[in-house]
Amino acid sequence: MSPQPTLTVLGIETSCDETAASVVRRASDGTVEVLSSIVASQIAAHAPFGGVVPEIAARAHVEVIDAVIGEAMRAANLGFSDLGGVAATAGPGLVGGVMVGLSAGKAIALARGLPLVAVNHLEGHAVSARLGARIDYPFLLLLVSGGHCQLLDVAGVGRCTRLGSTIDDAAGEAFDKIAKAMGLPYPGGPPLERLAEGGDPTRFTLPRALLGREGCDFSFSGLKTAAARLAEGVTDPTDRRDLAAAVQGAIARQLTERTHRAIAVYLREHGGGDRRLVVAGGVAANGEVRRALTALATSEGFTFHAPPLAYCTDNAAMIALAGAERLALGLIDGLDAVARPRWPLDEAAALAHPTHAPGRKGAKA
Ligand code: KG4
Ligand code: ZN
Repeated sequence: MSPQPTLTVLGIETSCDETAASVVRRASDGTVEVLSSIVASQIAAHAPFGGVVPEIAARAHVEVIDAVIGEAMRAANLGFSDLGGVAATAGPGLVGGVMVGLSAGKAIALARGLPLVAVNHLEGHAVSARLGARIDYPFLLLLVSGGHCQLLDVAGVGRCTRLGSTIDDAAGEAFDKIAKAMGLPYPGGPPLERLAEGGDPTRFTLPRALLGREGCDFSFSGLKTAAARLAEGVTDPTDRRDLAAAVQGAIARQLTERTHRAIAVYLREHGGGDRRLVVAGGVAANGEVRRALTALATSEGFTFHAPPLAYCTDNAAMIALAGAERLALGLIDGLDAVARPRWPLDEAAALAHPTHAPGRKGAKA
């Protein structure tokens, strides 16, 4: 095989409530350097509504996308002629926003004669830990964000097998909704983690989901309802701290239990080698989740990897890296690439075993 060239790629991310652009350089030996990573958050615009409003998100992306891309190029100290390609998130996500970033990527690719890579946002999260450390494929991935909660066997870009997924809410969604019921601001994960500090996680008993059911699927709706009901009667600061600790502990415990089951499935496929566990997505920023997964990995003889904190929540460096890895394999998309609201990483598994009833547009995730 001929040696892979060094690739410098501009990444663009607009699938939810962050407008982001980044330049990443991937050397021929696979080492990665983030030359710039700019994230313009819309959280303040959505906060009064307690969640992301799609129409507000799309408009806000249009307003800042040019400036964010310009800032990423300036911070990297590069011009468009220094790039080897452009990578833009093409889904899954809020389609009005996805179209903004994808169109910007297409325009730059067309104007500069650069190859375009239409990146799956989930693949971005899947490679995000590789922004901070060398982690070889394959690895077992727990992807936990506001919109997704999945366990995946990742053999490389474009080669993921889904081992489990949530049948209702994502873990981040559970953090957000319970935090809202407790009167905490959106997004609820970080303030709930701060409130839980020093709390007693055993004071309140919360339901454990799907205990009798085999497999690696998740469910958070029972926990959400029970915690929201408890929150109504809990006003004393110590009680609130203990409830937050119980919620955080229950979410971390479920994530760890299902990951434990997935380890067995992963090992059947890969044998005893390649014992690598990676967590990614916004919830990967949570200290208790990291502690619980670290303990599990250690007891199972796995190494444990999490992205640097800045690359847990949505960013464009992970999109640029997924694009660079695809470009290195010759995987390029046409300018007719479409924005997709739904785009499962393991499309075959999502269609064969939909955890959500498939909607008009096919399996969600
Ligand atoms: O990956 P991300 O930025 O967006 C999606 O692709 O969904 O994840 C956002 C989610 C939100 O639900 C937020 O509450 C959660 O990640 N999150 C956290 C923490 N930081 C962010 N959840 C728990 N603890 C945290 N420290
Ligand atoms: Zn995300």
